[in-house]
Amino acid sequence: MDKQTKIFIAGHRGMVGGAIKRVLERQGFTNLLYRASSELDLRNQAAVNEFFETEKPEVVVDAAARVGGILANNNYPYPFLMENMQIQNNLIDAALQTGVDKFIFLGSSCIYPKLAPQPLKEEYLLTDSLEPTNEWYAIAKISGVKACEAIRKQFGKDYVSLMPTNLYGTHDNFDLQSSHVLPAMIRKFHEAKENGHVPVTLWGSGTPMREFLFVDDLAEAVLFALDNVLPEHLYNVGTGTDLTIKELAETIQVAVGHQGDIIWDSSKPDGTPRKLMDISKMHELGWKHKVELKEGIEKTYGWFLENQNNYKEVKL
Ligand SMILES: NC(=O)c1ccc[n+]([C@@H]2O[C@H](COP(=O)([O-])OP(=O)(O)OC[C@H]3O[C@@H](n4cnc5c(N)ncnc54)[C@H](OP(=O)(O)O)[C@@H]3O)[C@@H](O)[C@H]2O)c1
Repeated sequence: MDKQTKIFIAGHRGMVGGAIKRVLERQGFTNLLYRASSELDLRNQAAVNEFFETEKPEVVVDAAARVGGILANNNYPYPFLMENMQIQNNLIDAALQTGVDKFIFLGSSCIYPKLAPQPLKEEYLLTDSLEPTNEWYAIAKISGVKACEAIRKQFGKDYVSLMPTNLYGTHDNFDLQSSHVLPAMIRKFHEAKENGHVPVTLWGSGTPMREFLFVDDLAEAVLFALDNVLPEHLYNVGTGTDLTIKELAETIQVAVGHQGDIIWDSSKPDGTPRKLMDISKMHELGWKHKVELKEGIEKTYGWFLENQNNYKEVKL
């Protein structure tokens, strides 16, 4: 892709959008466009339309969303459904109406049925019921995938959906009320270490299996999708390997240097028993992740240590 292409990165202040911005800048893209939610509320259709008519982006990467873990999804079903649909609908429709030829929509592995065969193939979409704790978010994301597929089918435009597995990395959300499992564990182990290696209590049984991708690797996958016309509308993005939540906890415990006990609170929900992506489609096209889990956790913990004071002021 021409380095002068005007690319709008929606959600550039987030973990994912920020990683995409940094990768594109490193690659020499000079015409990147972005707005904070305080400058452009993507739920506001009129404002989004005006922005597209004025700025005329040529390409859009949609990394803007209301995201969160099980707790946030369970407690706030309406915004997880409605705000995500508003954001993506406004972006996708404004892009179509203003002649954007390439659109990358980011979803998540929770779009696949709770009990789908593993590893999850793209073709399993809409073949069974979703995991109830995050179905609000999943249904919004599925409608985004379908909107891009419909545009591709009807107008022949290069609108593609990338479904990353669980992501983690620098600039992650470490707020225990709304964070995902990996950053929540980093913070819990770190604080337990600081408090004299007191025990750490973690949710669930520790037996579910999960896959984790370092966010810079996802950003590289987005770059790959920008540089190539992908032949299909939907691609999984992950590492292709998973581990139990218990193994994850032990890996983080070692990286953080916590020496106390781990207590599993099995009164709390586990979520989907296993979630491993089949990533053979992206591998066949030529993309593969580079950062393994141990290295990624160490980088993420390093970032957390450098930024926790600043972070606490901003987010907690
Ligand atoms: N994190 C994961 O594990 C994960 C896994 C799979 C897929 N994904 C996908 O990756 C995407 C981004 O996730 P993330 O983890 O980067 O989330 P994040 O860190 O919470 O960032 C979300 C971004 O969306 C923007 N945003 C939210 N509401 C907005 C609004 N009304 N108007 C304008 N901007 C708004 C925020 O902008 P401001 O900062 O300016 O408010 C923020 O920068 C999502 O589509 C998500 O489904 C994430």
